[in-house]
Amino acid sequence: MALAGSDAGANPAASTEKWSSRFAFIMAAVGSAVGLGNLWRFPAETGVNGGGAFVIFYIFCVVLIGLPVLLSETLIGRAGQSSAIESMKNVARKSGASPLWSLGAAVGMVGAFLILTFYSVIAGWVIYYAGVFINDVSSSLSSGNISGGAFAGMNADAIQDILPALHKNADMMIAMHALFMAITIFVVARGVHGGIEKVAVWLMPMFFLLFLGVTIYSLSTGDTSRALDFLFSFDAQRLLDPKVQLSALGQALFSLSLGSAMMITYGSYASRDTNLAKTSGMIATADTSVAIIAGLAIFPIVFAAGLSAEGGPTLLFATLPTAFQSMPFGSIIGLLFFVMVFFAALTSSVALLEASVSWAVTRFNANRAMLAVGFGLVAFVIGTWASFSFNSQSKLYLLNFGIFEEQNVFNFLDKLTGSVLLPVSALLVAIFVGWVADKQLVDEENGMSGAPHMIWRFLIAWLCPLVIGVILITGLFPQIVG
Ligand code: TRP
Repeated sequence: MALAGSDAGANPAASTEKWSSRFAFIMAAVGSAVGLGNLWRFPAETGVNGGGAFVIFYIFCVVLIGLPVLLSETLIGRAGQSSAIESMKNVARKSGASPLWSLGAAVGMVGAFLILTFYSVIAGWVIYYAGVFINDVSSSLSSGNISGGAFAGMNADAIQDILPALHKNADMMIAMHALFMAITIFVVARGVHGGIEKVAVWLMPMFFLLFLGVTIYSLSTGDTSRALDFLFSFDAQRLLDPKVQLSALGQALFSLSLGSAMMITYGSYASRDTNLAKTSGMIATADTSVAIIAGLAIFPIVFAAGLSAEGGPTLLFATLPTAFQSMPFGSIIGLLFFVMVFFAALTSSVALLEASVSWAVTRFNANRAMLAVGFGLVAFVIGTWASFSFNSQSKLYLLNFGIFEEQNVFNFLDKLTGSVLLPVSALLVAIFVGWVADKQLVDEENGMSGAPHMIWRFLIAWLCPLVIGVILITGLFPQIVG
């Protein structure tokens, strides 16, 4: 991809920093989208929701809802030229509408912040597993058996036990969570150019390289046909299940980093000559491909090892290491795998923190580094609380009804964001861009014309609000539809 050249400084009046190139913008946006959502949450949700029906509905949501909303969010940012909330206010003002519409971005910002809390916990597990595999690589090197499987001589139960053991070891879990949060804070404190952009431009290409390698490896050693069957064959009954639909919608938004103020913020850093429609298409394609391919990489290994797909949050951690045991060069592949997941998680977590930091920087004209540390610390504390969910001694239920019934703090935060805050924010964005914002202003920003433009208009004004609204209501209150 060619570098479009820097336009930093071309518009001295703009209040926000700028990406140094279109490449940097795409890498940062893709880096924010591709993360634990694709590698950990997608397989987990797919397993829990029974496979095919969920996947099909997820793809439906990406194309018909995610893509139009993604374009809407980036265009609000570029038209508003500020942090997410301020951008939405600016566009509302220019359109003669109430600045209260910025509530859409505010809900999203809270969502992004809450995602960060539990995201960092899972990313902490990833760091821990990278450590486990570093140990394993060094012991297989010293025993001269590097071409063999991982965890030589360990029985399967002991491998399955690595995660529960980590859960019981609260100090270790919190230390890893702290380490990950510290790295995230460090990057965000350095700013858009010095931190976020650098991480994205270096880590994302490395991620894709590793991802390609692991996928080829998995497809050539695992039970691919069962995985394909699980991912794509579905029964119609489940497709109509409002709970499955809400999970799929939430996953589509989560994975594309929508409804979380993020893409508005990143859009505001985009230069005038970036075609937002094309860029949105690229981001959505890259993100969705990674999710589907991750499913194709993970489930074959899971099935080949005779394990269950319903592991949920633990799927990635409990099942994969077992599988690496029976694979050639298992310890090295395992290490590369978790390093890759770490890269993907970091490029997302910096964006999650940036959502609130960039708001506070413009709102209070305060010091970026201090804000990064402040917000990061609060997120760390809430995340630590959530991490006790995995520690069997504590069963804390915050709200014990509806979709939150018997959900521990961790699952509560996950559901609150994925199934409530992100859809609500996306709904407000869709109504705002479809009905409230000045048509001319919107059309100047979106870089589309002709039929695609008309289709997008229809989707954002009619289909998105309707579908998100209906799924939200039926998913949250299934008793309505019986
Ligand atoms: N898309 C990220 C992932 O798949 C998670 C995410 C959701 C996110 N909302 C975000 C990341 C906002 C950055 C900013 O892992």
